[in-house]
Amino acid sequence: MNILVLGSGGREHAFTYKLSQSKKVNQVFVAPGNAGTDKIAKNLSINPTDFNAVKTAVLEHEINMVVVGPEAPLVEGVHDFFLADDQLKNIPVIGPKKDGALLEGSKDFSKQFMEKHNIPTAKYQSFTQDSLEDGYAFLETLNPPFVLKADGLAAGKGVLILDHIEEAKTELKEMLTNQKFGDASATVVIEEFLKGIELSVFVLTDGKSYKVLPSAKDYKRIGEGDTGLNTGGMGAISPVPFADTDFLTKVEDRIIKPTVDGLQKEGIDYRGFIFIGLMNVAGDPFVIEYNVRMGDPETEVVLPRINSDLFDLFEGVANQNLHEKTYEVTSQTATTVMLVSGGYPEAYEKGKAISGFEGIEDSIVFHAGTKITDTKVVTNGGRVMAITSFGDTIKDALAKSYKNIDKISFEKMNYRKDIGFDL
Ligand code: AMP
Ligand code: GLY
Repeated sequence: MNILVLGSGGREHAFTYKLSQSKKVNQVFVAPGNAGTDKIAKNLSINPTDFNAVKTAVLEHEINMVVVGPEAPLVEGVHDFFLADDQLKNIPVIGPKKDGALLEGSKDFSKQFMEKHNIPTAKYQSFTQDSLEDGYAFLETLNPPFVLKADGLAAGKGVLILDHIEEAKTELKEMLTNQKFGDASATVVIEEFLKGIELSVFVLTDGKSYKVLPSAKDYKRIGEGDTGLNTGGMGAISPVPFADTDFLTKVEDRIIKPTVDGLQKEGIDYRGFIFIGLMNVAGDPFVIEYNVRMGDPETEVVLPRINSDLFDLFEGVANQNLHEKTYEVTSQTATTVMLVSGGYPEAYEKGKAISGFEGIEDSIVFHAGTKITDTKVVTNGGRVMAITSFGDTIKDALAKSYKNIDKISFEKMNYRKDIGFDL
């Protein structure tokens, strides 16, 4: 089997790493990939949202399955594109069609979906430019802090959490009338603030049955002690110690089952990952958001803990016999620490030579923003590499990641030294 993975981050390197271990997989291709995927697979210099270029590559390389990493190609309809094309329609795509991708592509849609299917989430209302005054009135009914969310995709920046009502009103107007996030904020969801501790649960579904993948917690802020600007993610841990059997049973009964059943009831044939961002509010799970893909860097701790053949699970998704597949997870803890470019998540430089990452044996080095220039591996993004390790405890696993990070360097390298500090 030949597989094509779409995307270029640490998540896609982790997919490639896991798929390459399958006996059923002949060759993995990655579009566009990074310096890490280049070592274990074949990179194709294609933009994942250029569907015609994807088609040409699929036919040329006799691809048998496409695995979609990021949300953009899903929201833009890559799966629908395949189904509508006579030459592509029998090639399975792991990732939902446009209708399912709305769970991430529209906050308003996902809130309505949760309301309809009785899935616990924060109370909310949605507003447009025409209902700005109603939005102000709704804000008056809430206690601070105020949560404002652009309905559409806004590159992870569309959520504002504000302490003062006047500020919240100003921002609401900025979003609705002055298009602060362009079309993405033509509709704004205002919701109740949930106080608790966040974690994520991942589900792989064939539309009928599902497997609950390991839970994970990521560290989004750039600064130690969870301070400073939001990033794509600075590190992750799996499993999450407070997500015990009792809590995970609540998540499955109150959230996962009604989500998969709800999709079926809506007539949405969903084949792929559901990433459920949760708030643990005094022992009860509430959905903060759905994503229709895996998380990054969560994938770099979730997939290494899965002992089963990932390709076999994907075949189950494609053939709708996921319930027949064996699925095993190691009890070991996995941690990952992200190395980032100095300045990230604001302006940073690229093209810095990276040294010391080769020959690391007791951690897995997942590349994110890297590329090869004149045979050298150089930085090519804000998030550069994720260093994943296993241990019997979080502490043991982190000690390995940090020991190996000491060997790696590039100009202005930065990372958080306190991943897992709160656990
Ligand atoms: P989202 O893009 O919906 O995941 O929101 C980004 C971040 O904002 C989340 O990871 C939470 O930290 C925070 N957040 C979103 N919604 C809420 C809420 N209702 N209550 C508290 N925090 C929230
Ligand atoms: N790490 C958060 C995300 O992938 O959205």
